[in-house]
Amino acid sequence: MKLVKLIANLGYGSRKQVALMFREGRITDAAGEVLYADDAVPHDAVRVDGEPLDPPQGLLILLHKPVGYTCSTKDPGRVVYDLLPPRYRLRDPVLSTVGRLDRDTSGLLLMTDDGALLHRITSPRAQLPKVYEATLADDLRGDEADVFGSGTLMLESEKTPLAPAGLEVLGARRARITLVEGRYHQIRRMFAAVGNHVQTLERLSLGGLDLGGLEAGRWRPLDEADRARIFGAAAG
Ligand code: URA
Repeated sequence: MKLVKLIANLGYGSRKQVALMFREGRITDAAGEVLYADDAVPHDAVRVDGEPLDPPQGLLILLHKPVGYTCSTKDPGRVVYDLLPPRYRLRDPVLSTVGRLDRDTSGLLLMTDDGALLHRITSPRAQLPKVYEATLADDLRGDEADVFGSGTLMLESEKTPLAPAGLEVLGARRARITLVEGRYHQIRRMFAAVGNHVQTLERLSLGGLDLGGLEAGRWRPLDEADRARIFGAAAG
């Protein structure tokens, strides 16, 4: 791919704008030599205004989503893309969230521009466990683990029952929930089905990957070892 297209696809500007950046000598190699739009140079050898290029296509990001942000590009309020460099919203192929967390849910969120990887992670066949912690408005009744684990719980307007989910009691109004699927507002609706209400909800892990101390609002690109970790803990 020509450098001009590659750089435009990373969100640095339209092809016209990037062509101008070349003419202005802003795009160089690591030694500061000016590059030309049709040069063939390895990705990691390119500098824009002296800075390394953003990561190439195939990007996978771990974001600690704070409460109050939506997994959308269109919402008029705060969106998870606001937490990334502005260019990342303009990348082609587009950077998508891997599944969604509600606006009021915090925790581990992946984003990628790799459609096949996104599908591999979200596919029901992957059976990747997702672990959440919830704070509840009312005390647990005691039968929630049985109800959630039954494989027969039907949520309103769903056509099939939920797959068995795990529930570990952490306190009178606190629980850890493990899902292997991701239906709309699933945990909030599960607790509504047993007469309770979720007050706070956080996702702690996906497969074998956790937040590893990443603070709310922060993100980092994932490497091969992280990717292996995601698939390293499929549910039995
Ligand atoms: N379940 C929910 O209700 N909301 C989320 O964001 C994730 C799981």
